[in-house]
Amino acid sequence: MQLSSIKQTFSVPYEYQLHFTHGVFHIDNSLLSDIIREYKPNEAVKVLFVIDKGVADVHPSILSQIEAYCAAHHKQLKHTKSMVLHGGEQSKNSSEAIDAVLKGINENAICRHSFVIAIGGGALIDMTGYAAAIAHRGVKLIRIPTTVLSQNDAAVGVKNSVNSFDKKNFLGTFAPPFAIINDSDFLKTLEQRDWIAGVAEAIKVALIKDNEFFEYIAEHAVDLKNRDMEVMHHVIYKCAEMHMHHISQGGDPFESGSSRPLDFGHWAAHKMEYMTNYSLRHGEAVAKGIALDLTYAHLVGLITERDLQHILGVMLAIGFDLSLPLNSNAETEELLRGIEEFREHLGGELTITLISGIGKKYDVHTIDMTLMSQAIAKLNKYATVN
Ligand SMILES: NC(=O)c1ccc[n+]([C@@H]2O[C@H](COP(=O)([O-])OP(=O)(O)OC[C@H]3O[C@@H](n4cnc5c(N)ncnc54)[C@H](O)[C@@H]3O)[C@@H](O)[C@H]2O)c1
Ligand SMILES: [Zn+2]
Repeated sequence: MQLSSIKQTFSVPYEYQLHFTHGVFHIDNSLLSDIIREYKPNEAVKVLFVIDKGVADVHPSILSQIEAYCAAHHKQLKHTKSMVLHGGEQSKNSSEAIDAVLKGINENAICRHSFVIAIGGGALIDMTGYAAAIAHRGVKLIRIPTTVLSQNDAAVGVKNSVNSFDKKNFLGTFAPPFAIINDSDFLKTLEQRDWIAGVAEAIKVALIKDNEFFEYIAEHAVDLKNRDMEVMHHVIYKCAEMHMHHISQGGDPFESGSSRPLDFGHWAAHKMEYMTNYSLRHGEAVAKGIALDLTYAHLVGLITERDLQHILGVMLAIGFDLSLPLNSNAETEELLRGIEEFREHLGGELTITLISGIGKKYDVHTIDMTLMSQAIAKLNKYATVN
């Protein structure tokens, strides 16, 4: 029997900005300093930098640049420490990196009025964001993403995570950043695979929402492959904008529902990342996952053979390898188990986003396993021939 109840309701407005620049740590670039000044106009704020080793290795002067920048902008930034940690998916696979960031936050007395500034790929930013979110129940985070995928997707949203129990993103929180700074100079040092991988997320968002954007990518497939910076900038800008718009306008910023259209192609991607011991980049796996779900969408009669060939052809022209890393029936079955694991991660009813045409998302709530197995075989055959 209920005796009484007290109702509680409040809402919290969130606002953050994604800035585009180059040379973020050039002394005369005041962007970072201005962002911090806006928060505290009259006093220097403590900052702790967490830097992806993959970035520090190819930008050897970054540590001295950061120190010089903070010295020049000492009225806003009080540099505490720059920690260099291994990036890549391995940084999300054990608690070592999280512990290191937490230790850095503790030892440098970073409080909720100070900043952690994460510089690196999506993995290091996810991991650092998680540590920042749980320290003192959340210290402020500025993200400086350095890969295509992190600039157009991983770093622009409200989530952070690490992997646990052999599952991608098992631990994590929803924690909007204070700001994000995309510096295009970092992209110049990416390996070709990381330059391409992030385009998969742009293809994803274009396929579910924007036919014209997909055609832009299609027309510039070779420019993208050849590292045309202007084209890449447009693709990153548009993709980031669409992701941010979906979060603010899609009606479910903290993903309480079961539908997650931005995870088109991701049930298979997450499983393949795990099955290959993360030797596949997230974006590479997403490209394969999208190709698989498109092939399935064709087999269930949602898209024409012509559309399927067009989309797969664009992905190949950009340089994606669309073959699935499956060497036995047991591995195929393991991949298929990814569908149920995906449902579990989201909770509620199974919802897999497919498309019913380029730019038109279409949710389904059941997957025909026989047809999905056929899609796997059909895609692998296609990928071997092309
Ligand atoms: N939180 C989210 O909403 C969200 C969304 C999408 C993806 N993600 C996560 O993002 C991660 C993938 O991110 P990613 O594709 O950036 O890969 P990544 O972070 O694994 O980085 C790939 C490699 O590039 C190196 N690197 C980073 N910047 C570089 C640079 N400028 N020059 C040379 N090398 C550089 C890294 O050290 C690493 O070895 C996955 O863990 C994925 O789950 C998160
Ligand atoms: Zn993704």
